[in-house]
Amino acid sequence: MSGDDSGSKVLLMGKSESGKTSMRSIIFANYLARDTWRLGVTMDVEHSHVRFLGNLSLSLWDCGGQDRFMENYFRSQREHIFKNVQVLIYVFDIESKDKKKDMDYFTESLEALRVFSPKAKIFCLIHKMDVILTEEERNRVFEQRQNELKRICMHLDLQCFRTSIWDETLYKAWSSIVHALVPNKALIHKGLQSLCDLCDADEIVLFEKATFLVISHAHRKEHMDVHRFEKISNIIKQFKLSCENSRSQFSSMEAKNENFVSYLDAFTTTTYIMVISSNPNIQTAATVMNLKGAREHFEDLIK
Ligand code: GTP
Ligand code: MG
Repeated sequence: MSGDDSGSKVLLMGKSESGKTSMRSIIFANYLARDTWRLGVTMDVEHSHVRFLGNLSLSLWDCGGQDRFMENYFRSQREHIFKNVQVLIYVFDIESKDKKKDMDYFTESLEALRVFSPKAKIFCLIHKMDVILTEEERNRVFEQRQNELKRICMHLDLQCFRTSIWDETLYKAWSSIVHALVPNKALIHKGLQSLCDLCDADEIVLFEKATFLVISHAHRKEHMDVHRFEKISNIIKQFKLSCENSRSQFSSMEAKNENFVSYLDAFTTTTYIMVISSNPNIQTAATVMNLKGAREHFEDLIK
Protein backbone atom coordinates (compact mmCIF):
# COMPACT_ATOMS: atom_id res chain seq x y z
CA MET A 1 0.00 0.00 0.00
CA SER A 2 2.90 2.39 0.37
CA GLY A 3 3.96 4.79 -2.36
CA ASP A 4 7.63 4.27 -1.65
CA ASP A 5 9.85 2.31 0.74
CA SER A 6 9.48 4.84 3.52
CA GLY A 7 5.72 4.33 3.98
CA SER A 8 2.45 5.93 3.01
CA LYS A 9 3.12 9.47 1.89
CA VAL A 10 0.91 11.98 3.70
CA LEU A 11 1.12 15.64 2.63
CA LEU A 12 0.24 18.26 5.22
CA MET A 13 -0.42 21.56 3.49
CA GLY A 14 -2.00 24.95 4.14
CA LYS A 15 -0.95 28.53 4.62
CA SER A 16 1.68 29.58 7.14
CA GLU A 17 0.47 29.58 10.75
CA SER A 18 -2.62 27.55 9.92
CA GLY A 19 -1.56 25.02 12.59
CA LYS A 20 -0.02 22.09 10.65
CA THR A 21 3.07 21.57 12.78
CA SER A 22 1.03 22.09 15.96
CA MET A 23 -1.40 19.30 15.14
CA ARG A 24 1.19 16.81 14.01
CA SER A 25 3.25 17.49 17.16
CA ILE A 26 0.22 16.93 19.41
CA ILE A 27 -0.89 13.72 17.71
CA PHE A 28 2.48 12.10 17.02
CA ALA A 29 5.05 13.74 19.33
CA ASN A 30 3.15 14.06 22.62
CA TYR A 31 3.11 17.86 22.52
CA LEU A 32 0.59 19.72 24.65
CA ALA A 33 -1.63 22.30 22.93
CA ARG A 34 -0.42 25.01 25.30
CA ASP A 35 3.21 24.48 24.18
CA THR A 36 2.58 24.88 20.44
CA TRP A 37 3.15 28.65 20.48
CA ARG A 38 6.86 27.78 20.80
CA LEU A 39 7.01 26.02 17.43
CA GLY A 40 8.93 27.94 14.80
CA VAL A 41 7.93 28.46 11.20
CA THR A 42 8.51 25.36 9.08
CA MET A 43 11.20 25.96 6.47
CA ASP A 44 10.47 24.17 3.21
CA VAL A 45 9.35 20.56 3.95
CA GLU A 46 9.91 18.82 7.27
CA HIS A 47 9.83 15.04 6.94
CA SER A 48 8.90 12.71 9.76
CA HIS A 49 8.34 8.98 9.84
CA VAL A 50 5.71 7.61 12.12
CA ARG A 51 5.27 3.94 12.92
CA PHE A 52 1.64 3.18 13.43
CA LEU A 53 0.17 -0.14 14.53
CA GLY A 54 3.58 -1.76 14.22
CA ASN A 55 3.85 -2.31 10.50
CA LEU A 56 2.09 0.71 9.06
CA SER A 57 4.55 3.45 8.44
CA LEU A 58 3.52 6.99 7.61
CA SER A 59 5.82 9.39 5.87
CA LEU A 60 4.56 12.81 6.90
CA TRP A 61 5.53 15.75 4.72
CA ASP A 62 4.85 18.89 6.73
CA CYS A 63 5.03 21.53 3.99
CA GLY A 64 5.89 24.99 5.34
CA GLY A 65 3.15 27.34 4.17
CA GLN A 66 4.95 30.62 3.51
CA ASP A 67 4.30 31.95 0.01
CA ARG A 68 7.89 31.47 -1.17
CA PHE A 69 7.71 27.76 -0.30
CA MET A 70 4.22 27.27 -1.73
CA GLU A 71 5.32 28.78 -5.05
CA ASN A 72 8.16 26.24 -5.18
CA TYR A 73 5.86 23.28 -4.46
CA PHE A 74 3.72 24.19 -7.45
CA ARG A 75 6.62 24.97 -9.78
CA SER A 76 10.17 23.64 -9.42
CA GLN A 77 9.29 20.89 -6.89
CA ARG A 78 5.89 19.95 -8.32
CA GLU A 79 6.53 16.32 -9.21
CA HIS A 80 8.73 15.69 -6.16
CA ILE A 81 6.01 16.95 -3.79
CA PHE A 82 2.89 15.57 -5.44
CA LYS A 83 3.92 12.13 -6.75
CA ASN A 84 2.97 8.93 -4.88
CA VAL A 85 0.75 10.77 -2.39
CA GLN A 86 -1.72 8.56 -0.49
CA VAL A 87 -3.32 11.32 1.53
CA LEU A 88 -3.46 15.10 1.29
CA ILE A 89 -4.44 16.93 4.48
CA TYR A 90 -5.19 20.56 3.71
CA VAL A 91 -5.47 22.83 6.75
CA PHE A 92 -7.58 26.01 6.44
CA ASP A 93 -7.08 28.65 9.10
CA ILE A 94 -10.51 30.04 9.92
CA GLU A 95 -8.81 33.32 10.93
CA SER A 96 -7.10 33.70 7.55
CA LYS A 97 -7.29 37.21 6.09
CA ASP A 98 -6.80 36.05 2.51
CA LYS A 99 -9.33 33.32 1.86
CA LYS A 100 -9.06 33.66 -1.91
CA LYS A 101 -5.36 32.86 -1.85
CA ASP A 102 -6.02 29.83 0.40
CA MET A 103 -8.60 28.53 -2.07
CA ASP A 104 -6.27 29.19 -5.03
CA TYR A 105 -3.44 27.22 -3.40
CA PHE A 106 -5.84 24.39 -2.57
CA THR A 107 -7.08 24.32 -6.17
CA GLU A 108 -3.48 24.21 -7.39
CA SER A 109 -2.77 21.28 -5.06
CA LEU A 110 -5.75 19.39 -6.49
CA GLU A 111 -4.54 20.06 -10.03
CA ALA A 112 -1.11 18.68 -9.18
CA LEU A 113 -2.63 15.62 -7.49
CA ARG A 114 -4.85 14.97 -10.49
CA VAL A 115 -1.67 14.59 -12.57
CA PHE A 116 0.71 12.87 -10.14
CA SER A 117 -1.49 11.03 -7.58
CA PRO A 118 -5.04 10.73 -8.89
CA LYS A 119 -6.01 8.15 -6.26
CA ALA A 120 -5.01 10.27 -3.26
CA LYS A 121 -7.58 10.74 -0.54
CA ILE A 122 -8.23 14.34 0.42
CA PHE A 123 -9.01 15.62 3.90
CA CYS A 124 -9.74 19.28 4.60
CA LEU A 125 -9.48 20.53 8.16
CA ILE A 126 -11.32 23.77 8.91
CA HIS A 127 -9.04 24.67 11.76
CA LYS A 128 -8.85 26.99 14.81
CA MET A 129 -12.60 26.63 15.32
CA ASP A 130 -12.09 27.61 18.96
CA VAL A 131 -11.77 31.27 17.94
CA ILE A 132 -15.46 31.30 16.98
CA LEU A 133 -17.48 31.80 20.11
CA THR A 134 -20.83 30.10 19.57
CA GLU A 135 -21.62 26.56 18.44
CA GLU A 136 -24.26 27.92 16.08
CA GLU A 137 -21.76 30.16 14.33
CA ARG A 138 -19.16 27.37 14.21
CA ASN A 139 -21.71 25.12 12.49
CA ARG A 140 -22.64 27.83 10.02
CA VAL A 141 -19.04 28.63 9.11
CA PHE A 142 -18.15 24.94 8.78
CA GLU A 143 -21.14 24.11 6.54
CA GLN A 144 -20.44 27.08 4.30
CA ARG A 145 -16.75 26.26 3.94
CA GLN A 146 -17.43 22.56 3.39
CA ASN A 147 -19.87 23.35 0.57
CA GLU A 148 -17.36 25.61 -1.14
CA LEU A 149 -14.64 22.95 -0.90
CA LYS A 150 -16.92 20.18 -2.19
CA ARG A 151 -17.77 22.35 -5.20
CA ILE A 152 -14.06 22.74 -5.99
CA CYS A 153 -13.34 19.03 -5.50
CA MET A 154 -16.35 17.83 -7.54
CA HIS A 155 -15.97 14.07 -8.03
CA LEU A 156 -12.80 13.73 -5.91
CA ASP A 157 -12.80 11.75 -2.67
CA LEU A 158 -13.00 14.56 -0.05
CA GLN A 159 -13.79 14.56 3.68
CA CYS A 160 -14.03 17.76 5.75
CA PHE A 161 -13.57 18.14 9.50
CA ARG A 162 -13.82 21.07 11.86
CA THR A 163 -10.85 21.07 14.22
CA SER A 164 -9.10 22.84 17.05
CA ILE A 165 -6.03 21.86 19.03
CA TRP A 166 -7.93 22.90 22.16
CA ASP A 167 -10.50 20.10 22.13
CA GLU A 168 -11.13 16.53 21.01
CA THR A 169 -12.10 17.45 17.42
CA LEU A 170 -8.45 17.01 16.44
CA TYR A 171 -8.64 13.33 17.44
CA LYS A 172 -11.81 12.79 15.46
CA ALA A 173 -10.19 14.12 12.28
CA TRP A 174 -6.89 12.27 12.69
CA SER A 175 -8.58 8.98 13.61
CA SER A 176 -10.49 9.16 10.32
CA ILE A 177 -7.38 10.07 8.36
CA VAL A 178 -5.31 7.22 9.78
CA HIS A 179 -8.25 4.83 9.49
CA ALA A 180 -8.13 5.37 5.73
CA LEU A 181 -4.63 3.84 5.73
CA VAL A 182 -5.16 0.85 8.08
CA PRO A 183 -5.12 -2.51 6.28
CA ASN A 184 -7.47 -5.34 7.41
CA LYS A 185 -10.07 -2.82 8.62
CA ALA A 186 -13.05 -5.05 7.85
CA LEU A 187 -11.52 -8.11 9.56
CA ILE A 188 -10.53 -6.13 12.64
CA HIS A 189 -14.07 -4.77 12.91
CA LYS A 190 -15.59 -8.22 12.49
CA GLY A 191 -13.31 -9.65 15.19
CA LEU A 192 -14.18 -6.81 17.53
CA GLN A 193 -17.89 -7.37 16.99
CA SER A 194 -17.51 -11.05 17.96
CA LEU A 195 -15.50 -10.08 21.02
CA CYS A 196 -18.23 -7.58 21.96
CA ASP A 197 -20.81 -10.40 21.81
CA LEU A 198 -18.56 -12.75 23.79
CA CYS A 199 -17.98 -10.17 26.54
CA ASP A 200 -21.68 -9.24 26.58
CA ALA A 201 -20.43 -5.65 26.30
CA ASP A 202 -22.35 -2.55 25.21
CA GLU A 203 -19.35 -1.36 23.27
CA ILE A 204 -15.68 -2.12 22.57
CA VAL A 205 -13.16 0.43 21.28
CA LEU A 206 -9.67 -0.27 19.96
CA PHE A 207 -7.04 2.49 20.25
CA GLU A 208 -3.57 2.75 18.73
CA LYS A 209 -1.08 2.57 21.58
CA ALA A 210 1.11 5.65 21.10
CA THR A 211 -1.38 8.16 19.68
CA PHE A 212 -4.59 6.86 21.26
CA LEU A 213 -6.36 7.37 17.94
CA VAL A 214 -9.39 5.11 17.46
CA ILE A 215 -8.69 2.20 15.10
CA SER A 216 -12.04 0.44 15.27
CA HIS A 217 -15.12 0.01 17.44
CA ALA A 218 -18.04 -2.36 17.78
CA HIS A 219 -21.27 -1.97 19.70
CA ARG A 220 -24.38 -3.86 20.77
CA LYS A 221 -26.21 -0.88 22.25
CA GLU A 222 -26.66 2.55 20.71
CA HIS A 223 -25.13 5.49 22.54
CA MET A 224 -26.35 9.05 22.15
CA ASP A 225 -23.02 10.88 22.35
CA VAL A 226 -21.49 10.74 18.88
CA HIS A 227 -18.33 12.47 20.14
CA ARG A 228 -17.52 9.93 22.85
CA PHE A 229 -14.58 8.24 21.08
CA GLU A 230 -12.54 11.35 20.47
CA LYS A 231 -13.30 12.58 24.00
CA ILE A 232 -11.87 9.34 25.40
CA SER A 233 -8.80 9.55 23.12
CA ASN A 234 -8.14 13.09 24.31
CA ILE A 235 -8.68 12.43 28.01
CA ILE A 236 -6.75 9.15 28.22
CA LYS A 237 -3.84 10.48 26.17
CA GLN A 238 -3.52 13.46 28.56
CA PHE A 239 -3.69 11.09 31.52
CA LYS A 240 -1.11 8.73 30.02
CA LEU A 241 1.24 11.65 29.39
CA SER A 242 0.90 12.92 32.96
CA CYS A 243 1.71 9.40 34.22
CA GLU A 244 4.86 9.44 32.08
CA ASN A 245 5.77 12.92 33.38
CA SER A 246 5.68 11.57 36.90
CA ARG A 247 7.88 8.66 35.78
CA SER A 248 5.21 5.98 35.97
CA GLN A 249 3.60 3.97 33.20
CA PHE A 250 -0.09 3.94 32.47
CA SER A 251 -1.24 0.30 32.32
CA SER A 252 -4.97 -0.18 32.82
CA MET A 253 -7.96 1.47 34.47
CA GLU A 254 -11.51 0.77 35.48
CA ALA A 255 -14.23 3.42 35.80
CA LYS A 256 -17.58 2.56 37.34
CA ASN A 257 -20.86 4.14 38.26
CA GLU A 258 -24.34 2.79 38.93
CA ASN A 259 -25.02 2.47 35.19
CA PHE A 260 -21.89 0.98 33.66
CA VAL A 261 -18.36 -0.38 34.05
CA SER A 262 -15.65 0.60 31.63
CA TYR A 263 -12.37 -1.30 31.55
CA LEU A 264 -9.32 -0.07 29.62
CA ASP A 265 -6.19 -2.19 29.21
CA ALA A 266 -3.17 -2.77 26.99
CA PHE A 267 -4.25 -5.34 24.38
CA THR A 268 -1.94 -6.29 21.52
CA THR A 269 1.62 -4.94 21.30
CA THR A 270 0.35 -1.87 19.43
CA THR A 271 -3.14 -1.29 20.83
CA TYR A 272 -5.22 -0.56 23.91
CA ILE A 273 -8.77 -1.82 24.27
CA MET A 274 -11.77 -0.44 26.17
CA VAL A 275 -14.77 -2.57 27.09
CA ILE A 276 -17.96 -0.85 28.29
CA SER A 277 -20.73 -2.86 29.90
CA SER A 278 -24.02 -1.90 31.55
CA ASN A 279 -24.77 -5.48 32.63
CA PRO A 280 -24.21 -5.52 36.43
CA ASN A 281 -23.62 -9.29 36.34
CA ILE A 282 -20.47 -9.02 34.21
CA GLN A 283 -17.36 -9.24 36.39
CA THR A 284 -14.22 -7.45 35.23
CA ALA A 285 -12.26 -10.66 35.86
CA ALA A 286 -14.38 -12.36 33.17
CA THR A 287 -13.71 -9.51 30.73
CA VAL A 288 -9.97 -9.81 31.43
CA MET A 289 -10.11 -13.55 30.64
CA ASN A 290 -11.99 -12.94 27.38
CA LEU A 291 -9.47 -10.32 26.30
CA LYS A 292 -6.61 -12.66 27.10
CA GLY A 293 -8.19 -15.37 24.94
CA ALA A 294 -8.64 -12.98 21.99
CA ARG A 295 -5.23 -11.30 22.15
CA GLU A 296 -3.32 -13.65 19.86
CA HIS A 297 -5.97 -13.57 17.14
CA PHE A 298 -5.92 -9.76 17.10
CA GLU A 299 -2.13 -9.70 17.19
CA ASP A 300 -2.19 -11.62 13.88
CA LEU A 301 -4.96 -9.49 12.38
CA ILE A 302 -3.27 -6.21 13.17
CA LYS A 303 0.10 -7.38 11.82
P1 GTP B 1 4.13 27.10 8.88
O1 GTP B 1 5.15 26.19 9.47
O2 GTP B 1 4.64 28.50 8.71
O3 GTP B 1 3.54 26.59 7.61
O4 GTP B 1 2.90 27.20 9.96
P2 GTP B 1 2.08 25.99 10.62
O5 GTP B 1 0.88 25.72 9.79
O6 GTP B 1 2.97 24.84 10.89
O7 GTP B 1 1.58 26.65 11.98
P3 GTP B 1 1.98 26.24 13.47
O8 GTP B 1 1.57 24.85 13.76
O9 GTP B 1 3.39 26.62 13.69
O10 GTP B 1 0.97 27.16 14.33
C1 GTP B 1 0.94 28.57 14.29
C2 GTP B 1 0.24 29.09 15.52
O11 GTP B 1 -1.14 28.71 15.53
C3 GTP B 1 0.82 28.60 16.86
O12 GTP B 1 1.01 29.69 17.70
C4 GTP B 1 -0.24 27.66 17.41
O13 GTP B 1 -0.28 27.68 18.83
C5 GTP B 1 -1.51 28.25 16.81
N1 GTP B 1 -2.58 27.24 16.65
C6 GTP B 1 -2.48 26.00 16.09
N2 GTP B 1 -3.65 25.35 16.12
C7 GTP B 1 -4.54 26.19 16.72
C8 GTP B 1 -5.93 26.10 17.05
O14 GTP B 1 -6.62 25.08 16.83
N3 GTP B 1 -6.51 27.18 17.64
C9 GTP B 1 -5.81 28.32 17.92
N4 GTP B 1 -6.47 29.32 18.51
N5 GTP B 1 -4.49 28.44 17.63
C10 GTP B 1 -3.86 27.40 17.05
MG1 MG C 1 4.91 24.47 10.49
